[in-house]
Amino acid sequence: MSKVTVVGAGKYGSTTVQRIAEWDIVDEVVMTDIVEGLPQGLALDMNQSRPILGYRTIVTGTNDYADTADSDVVVITAGLPRKPGMSRMDLLGVNAKIVKAVTEEIVKYSPNAVIIVVTNPLDQMTTLCADVSGFPKGRVLGQAGMLDSARFAHFISEASGADILDVTAVTLGSHGETMVPVPSMCTIGDTPISEVLDAATIDELVERTRNGGAEIVAFLKTGSAYYAPSAAAASMVKAVIDDQGAEMPVCAWMEGQYGISDVYLGVIARLGVNGVEEVLEVDLTDAERAGLEEAAVAVAEKVADLQQIEL
Ligand code: APR
Repeated sequence: MSKVTVVGAGKYGSTTVQRIAEWDIVDEVVMTDIVEGLPQGLALDMNQSRPILGYRTIVTGTNDYADTADSDVVVITAGLPRKPGMSRMDLLGVNAKIVKAVTEEIVKYSPNAVIIVVTNPLDQMTTLCADVSGFPKGRVLGQAGMLDSARFAHFISEASGADILDVTAVTLGSHGETMVPVPSMCTIGDTPISEVLDAATIDELVERTRNGGAEIVAFLKTGSAYYAPSAAAASMVKAVIDDQGAEMPVCAWMEGQYGISDVYLGVIARLGVNGVEEVLEVDLTDAERAGLEEAAVAVAEKVADLQQIEL
């Protein structure tokens, strides 16, 4: 009996639930929110799509954490999304309170769960969740790298005309200004992107990736992106449930890898039933390595901002 809970039945949460359910990889997905009726209505609607799409996973909508008990994986999407002109930092105060309260409930009902945090500002919220939970650090991770890498891959495909499924793109570091794209690991088929695109074009794509979330927020006016974000979060859930050692970029706790410790950072990790099974140290150029170190310092500074907040 495998069970996943998604906290927050907004755009990001509900599309994450939908993807996991439609993949038919767990018995039950529980969706919870503070808004009464919202998760129940969405769950009923999703369950009625099962005979059409042909899957068995049952979705339970609830406002009661007791229904989330003994979840294997919990995804935290609860929080306010970024509004136009609002930085991730503006969100810190509001979302920290929400993530703390949600984490306390998760720990109470699912003491053995792997927690995947997606609420922004991501690096701080993942750190806060880990601290509040008291879980081993590998059992708390954040979603950022999968999304940023996917955005980068899309832009590379668009600029080069390459089939999206032939493009491999990697970003590490932080979800935000100090995101570290890794062009040395980006390929089209077996060909490095540097042999297909000129340096100025790659720089432009890197910049567009770094602002990938804001570009969509500016179009939508209200709310932020959720299709690619939910695909990223759902794929992390699948990696944990499958327990096949899938390797992907995630926000993971550093314990000396790349010479960096005691901070959550976007790196490539092997995922499994225990969450982050191993942080992988991949070959980086000197510039990419320096970028990663810079990102670690920036995240540590931002995490220190959490001390200023009354939780
Ligand atoms: N417990 C449960 N749910 C909560 C709580 C709480 N304490 N506080 C807020 N929520 C719910 C809201 O009721 C809402 O349904 O979280 C949901 C957020 O949904 P949206 O406003 O649609 O936001 P969404 O686009 O889903 O983004 C959620 O992900 O990408 C990040 O920056 C984004 O932090 C934001 C989060």
